[in-house]
Amino acid sequence: SDPSDSAPKADIAVIGGSGFYELLQSVQRVEVTTPYGAPSDAVSVGTVGDRSVAFLPRHGSHHELPPHRINYRANMWALRSLGVRQVLAPCAVGSLRASLGPGSVVLPDQLVDRTAGRVQTYYEHGATHVSFADPYCASGRAAVLKAAGEADADVHDGGVMVVVEGPRFSTRAESRWYASAGWSLINMTGHPEAVLARELALCYTSIALVTDYDAGVEHGEGVSQGEVFRVFAANVERLKGLVLKTVDVLERERECACATALDGMDLPFELP
Ligand code: ADE
Repeated sequence: SDPSDSAPKADIAVIGGSGFYELLQSVQRVEVTTPYGAPSDAVSVGTVGDRSVAFLPRHGSHHELPPHRINYRANMWALRSLGVRQVLAPCAVGSLRASLGPGSVVLPDQLVDRTAGRVQTYYEHGATHVSFADPYCASGRAAVLKAAGEADADVHDGGVMVVVEGPRFSTRAESRWYASAGWSLINMTGHPEAVLARELALCYTSIALVTDYDAGVEHGEGVSQGEVFRVFAANVERLKGLVLKTVDVLERERECACATALDGMDLPFELP
């Protein structure tokens, strides 16, 4: 069911990744139910300056959900039902490029889906085929770059993120293959999150923090979970700062293509 009329509303959401458990202060926690089941956690709604912002920890409040068990449909539906139209999605990624070291913040502009068996659509009936040539919101990406400029923060503009099924990390051969295809980042949660946002006409901007060199790049032991969590934790305050600054500069009126992604289509249900 939709949240009651008295539930707080938000325009912008941040879906936090590993180690991103809290973003907002003085928040109201909202339990949202959806036709697809429960989201990863209650949604926290608070303010950043004069903007109302929702926060959802992607992996649950105690990181209990591995990437392949996250209810991506419920998460995006819940956010839209609270009024959200723009989603900022920080995430941990491995690097497939020697030039992008741990600690780098990268704003991907493309994704490649190498997940398997995940539900990746709301449209199980009829013909609703969204365009996904450019998976990320142009104005969201511009806002991150503007925020980075104002904060004098280093953000690498552009990159192809390959999303693998996991939860294991890749073999060296897989990793070398992805790198040789020209892809630069690897992660386990970027899909179907991005496409489900598009299917609800939400803006979606992925903000990637490099936590490790993936197995095909590194000459040592390959990736370990400990390394990913440690590097994320060491950089999370910087990333939070960038996200909050981005909220500040994000356009209030949506003039990007995301807003009209469903125009003229026959939808089998009403959007929340
Ligand atoms: N998330 C962070 N680092 C990763 C890696 N090397 N492979 C897949 N997902 C990741």
